[in-house]
Amino acid sequence: MMTVKEILDAKGDKVWTIGPDAKVIDALKLMADKRVGALVVVEKGCVVGVFSERDYARKVVLEGKTSKDTPVKDIMTSPVYGVRRESTAEECMALMTNKHIRHLPVCENDKLLGVVSIGDVVKSIMTEQKITIENLQNYIMGKYV
Ligand SMILES: NC(=O)c1ccc[n+]([C@@H]2O[C@H](COP(=O)([O-])OP(=O)(O)OC[C@H]3O[C@@H](n4cnc5c(N)ncnc54)[C@H](O)[C@@H]3O)[C@@H](O)[C@H]2O)c1
Repeated sequence: MMTVKEILDAKGDKVWTIGPDAKVIDALKLMADKRVGALVVVEKGCVVGVFSERDYARKVVLEGKTSKDTPVKDIMTSPVYGVRRESTAEECMALMTNKHIRHLPVCENDKLLGVVSIGDVVKSIMTEQKITIENLQNYIMGKYV
C-alpha cells in the first residue's frame, strides 16, 4: 500500500505557505506563480489553515469581498485536516472525500513535512492498481500459457 512518505519522495516535500494576514491577492499571485491550487497558512511555525482556489471562488466575490482588501485568515479553511508520513493513499482519499477537501498538509510533531493534493493521491492509487494488474497478468500468463 502506497504511503504519504512514498508520494512525497516522488513529488518532493517543498510546501508553499502564506501568513494569515497576507492579502488574498498576494496569495493568488503566489499560487499562480508556483502553479499550485492551495497554500498552507502558517503562523509562528504552526499550520493554522489552508487557502485554496475553492475558498477564493466561494468566499470572495460572492460575499461582496475583494481580494485586495481581504486577509487570507478571513476566508481560509480552518481547522485543518492533516496526515502523517505513514498514512496510506487510501486513508488520504477517504479523508478528502469525507471532508470535501483536496489538499492535506503532512505534519509530524508540529513540523510541516509536505502537502499532498487529490491529484497526487489519485496518481499514486492508479500507479498501484497498474502494478497489481501487471502482476496478475504475469501470474495468469505464467500459469496458463
Ligand atoms: N502528473 C502528476 O504527477 C500530477 C500530480 C498532481 C496533480 N496533477 C494535475 O494537476 C492538476 C491539479 O491538481 P490538484 O487538483 O491535485 O491540485 P494542485 O493544482 O493544487 O496540485 C498540483 C501539484 O502541486 C502540489 N501542491 C499543491 N499545493 C502545494 C503547496 N502549497 N505547496 C507545495 N506543493 C503544492 C500538489 O501536491 C500537486 O503535486 C490536475 O490536472 C492534476 O491532474 C498531476
